[in-house]
Amino acid sequence: MKITVVGAGNVGATCANVIAERELAKEVILIDIKEGIAEGKSLDMWQTAPVNHYDTRIKGYTNDYAPTAGSEVVVITSGLPRKPGMSRDDLIATNAGIVKSVTENVIKYSPDAKIIVVSNPLDVMTYCAFLTAKVDSRKVFGMAGILDTARYRAFLAEELDVSPKEIQAILMGGHGDTMVPLPRYTTVSGIPVTELVSPERLDAIVERTKKGGGELVNLMGTSAWYAPGAAAAQMVEAIVRDQKRVVPVCAWLTGEYGIKDLYLGVPVILGKDGVEKIIELKLNDAEKELLNQSAEAVREVCSVLDRMNSVSA
Ligand code: LAC
Repeated sequence: MKITVVGAGNVGATCANVIAERELAKEVILIDIKEGIAEGKSLDMWQTAPVNHYDTRIKGYTNDYAPTAGSEVVVITSGLPRKPGMSRDDLIATNAGIVKSVTENVIKYSPDAKIIVVSNPLDVMTYCAFLTAKVDSRKVFGMAGILDTARYRAFLAEELDVSPKEIQAILMGGHGDTMVPLPRYTTVSGIPVTELVSPERLDAIVERTKKGGGELVNLMGTSAWYAPGAAAAQMVEAIVRDQKRVVPVCAWLTGEYGIKDLYLGVPVILGKDGVEKIIELKLNDAEKELLNQSAEAVREVCSVLDRMNSVSA
């Protein structure tokens, strides 16, 4: 089995490395547009195989998609990252062009692949890949919820001084400041988090989570990669091992939650066919309101893409 990661920047390289270390495929193909980067990073990673004891072969190519043919899963990380002061939405024009051309190449060689989009602005770039790929929406989806939930879970683990493994949580909405962490669906080994953390502290953690990506951009001058790369690799694992994991994924809604024709973060069952089922939670009025606000924010940025497409068409 073959998995392709497009974009050998920090997120793509980290994702490829996790995929290889977990031996999720026989072969990982890394593609980048910059001459030598994918070749160099994959050679470096492959040289960790004897030390880290894995067999997965990682190979890199400069903008050559022929070696990606027949990939089971393709992760698209291409595009510019954020700089301090930028919102993810500021990247739309540049990254839409990149994601479109990458998706065309991906589909040409791997028409049956499940496509995981990681490029920002996430929800809109997933929509862009879907419009370009023209395949079943269950096979094109975005990575954001696992990352955002991971940040939320890490903050809670620190607050409670417990293992992050014990924190289960779900988070919905777009990958931006309007994302909707759901304390009512957050537990510590089954114990409702609301029994363990005060409402004030919980609010503060929810707020920090919403700006979790920005916190890192401010610290490092560019966007994060360890958690984004690992989160994308977890989605790959759910698919190639047909794990049927229940995770938040940016998925195409066709009326679920009263929202139609929009990519948005929702809990899904992720398995070999991609998004196998969207789970509809019984949200209360306040939660519904927050989700609708997030959906509106995403829809607005999607309409920028639609306008760009109608101009170029
Ligand atoms: C972040 C970027 C990857 O949230 O969107 O860190």
